[in-house]
Amino acid sequence: MKTIKDVASLAGVSVATVSRALNKSGYVSEKSRLKVETAIKELDFYPNEVARSLYQKKSKLIGFLLPDISNPFFPLVAKGIEDKMNQMGYNLILGNVQESSDKENEYIRTFSQNNVAGVLSAVEGGFRNMKGMPFVMLDRVASNKEYSVYSDDYQGGSLAAQAVVERNPGEVIVMVGPRDISKSLVRSAGSIKVLEENNINYHLFETESFQFESAEKAAVHLLEKFPKANSIIASNDIHALAVMREAIRKGIKIPEELQIVGYDDNPYSKLMYPSLSTIAQPAYQIGYKGAEILCARIEGKPIKEKNVQLPVTLEIRESLRKKDKDE
Ligand code: RIB
Repeated sequence: MKTIKDVASLAGVSVATVSRALNKSGYVSEKSRLKVETAIKELDFYPNEVARSLYQKKSKLIGFLLPDISNPFFPLVAKGIEDKMNQMGYNLILGNVQESSDKENEYIRTFSQNNVAGVLSAVEGGFRNMKGMPFVMLDRVASNKEYSVYSDDYQGGSLAAQAVVERNPGEVIVMVGPRDISKSLVRSAGSIKVLEENNINYHLFETESFQFESAEKAAVHLLEKFPKANSIIASNDIHALAVMREAIRKGIKIPEELQIVGYDDNPYSKLMYPSLSTIAQPAYQIGYKGAEILCARIEGKPIKEKNVQLPVTLEIRESLRKKDKDE
């Protein structure tokens, strides 16, 4: 691997001049800069990132703490982050916390030891121990005190309930996401408000997690507990797909006997047959916008909006019945 000394020797300048040119710090004449660039190209030289980060005490790395990498929602957020960060010359380190506080602390330590320039976290409460690193909270944002980007859960819960109410709702089940994640309660509150305004009876069905592992068991339990359910407002698409599978296995017709609306619009939802109606979250934009704010924080640039709430939309597909008036 070529070193900075090789570049200096070929360019006919000092190592200090090459270092200033690489780190864009201090004066370098146009003539010297051109000679350095030519030498870098000829030697196919690239700076040693660890050495550079030790020199600058900040790497070009960004940490992203996420709760569950197997849930398709989070890779979409990561893609938005990566696209923006790559534009700004940063690279991403993923910290898949898998909802374990020990892993969360371990990744925060790793980020700090690697001199990351900043951290994005979709882990609820993740802001508590950022060890002084600049950060932005994404998606699972418990309070508006911190820099954050998230989508409108109350609107999402309301849209899901409205979609069911307009389609001969019958017996309605509202799946409540894990109560230790504040957005679960905001979504359910949005649904409950619409159901009660329309005098629709409903039952709440608690779920312990958003993850695949618990969704299949929850689906079996839900259809055993509510065998006559006609409408289900699911806590996320993974649960909605698990309920659809269990209903089809039991010979229940979707949407004629049981209609279902999910939450997230993960890429698999439109591939299911029947395709899953759902609340689409702007996952990519949450990541991209969060990365934009974090870059501004790192570079000390002004930030117009500290807390950004993005709208959600209802994606109507085959798992919802036709609207009453359409019949
Ligand atoms: O499906 C996973 C859920 O957790 C999503 O609704 C997303 O908002 C995340 O917080």
